[in-house]
Amino acid sequence: MAENRQTIQWFPGHMAKTKRKIKEILPIIDAVAEVVDARIPLSSRNPDLKEIIENKPHIILLNKCDMADANATKEWIDFYKANGITAIPIDCKSGKGLNAFKDNVKLALKDKLESYKEKGMVGKPLRVMVVGIPNVGKSSFINKIAGRTRAKAENRPGVTRGNQWFTIDKQLELLDTPGVLWPKFEDETVGEHLAVTGAVKDQILDAELLAMRLLEILATDYPDLLTARYGELDFSLDAYDLLGVIGKKRGMVIRGGETDTLRAANMLLEEYRNQKIGNITLERVKNA
Ligand code: G4P
Repeated sequence: MAENRQTIQWFPGHMAKTKRKIKEILPIIDAVAEVVDARIPLSSRNPDLKEIIENKPHIILLNKCDMADANATKEWIDFYKANGITAIPIDCKSGKGLNAFKDNVKLALKDKLESYKEKGMVGKPLRVMVVGIPNVGKSSFINKIAGRTRAKAENRPGVTRGNQWFTIDKQLELLDTPGVLWPKFEDETVGEHLAVTGAVKDQILDAELLAMRLLEILATDYPDLLTARYGELDFSLDAYDLLGVIGKKRGMVIRGGETDTLRAANMLLEEYRNQKIGNITLERVKNA
């Protein structure tokens, strides 16, 4: 199927500018909180982040965990823990996990808070930069946790125009990413998974191809959810034929008795994105 795959255009110049801006502000940052989509914890990351943030303490926020598979999310948390990174499941719709985030940041940086205290800098807050590729829910996270408490720019040292600081409490300030971080678009699977979740526009990739990729994952990891939604299915069929069967079951037949696979593909993608099929994680630790 490789010849059917398509790539998404992106602009390396934007990434270079963002890298430069992050590097500039890094000296006054205490930690980095990276928001990722818990359904695609691999594809929703920026491939260069580790190199950009050097040795800064790093926390991963597995956002949209309300849509992900709770078991898979737990596996990811354990996976990151084994790699020395704290990962916290959050849900910015309900606000779940936001207190755990605040507690964990303070815990991870407790030496720093103590040293501020020893040096008589009691009021000095921890500064955390929030990063994430578009659509992972970075703005939702900041809005939910900070409310309307945007910090006054003139009080922030080392702040260039356009940087957005938010006061969370006396001990914690957040900075929104100064720029846009991009995913690893040169990897076809990354583009496809981002499109399946709706993080990039449908029109960029072919709906039938995306639906087939989704079906391949569902048939392997979530066959019960698939049959619960669409009835008995023959999983020995390839993804295109399976799509045809699902379309037929939904009465998506065009003149001549053929299945309208494009309509079936759009229906499947929409039902996945609206969580009609269930809580599904597309990328598992076994793929890491
Ligand atoms: P960004 O700043 O990283 O680009 O993302 P943003 O906050 O704009 O969120 C992108 C989409 O993801 C939004 O949906 C937002 O509501 C949704 N979202 C963010 N966090 C969560 C979460 O924890 N759970 C769920 N289920 N959804 C989340 P949208 O369709 O673009 O807008 P709308 O539905 O809010 O109108």
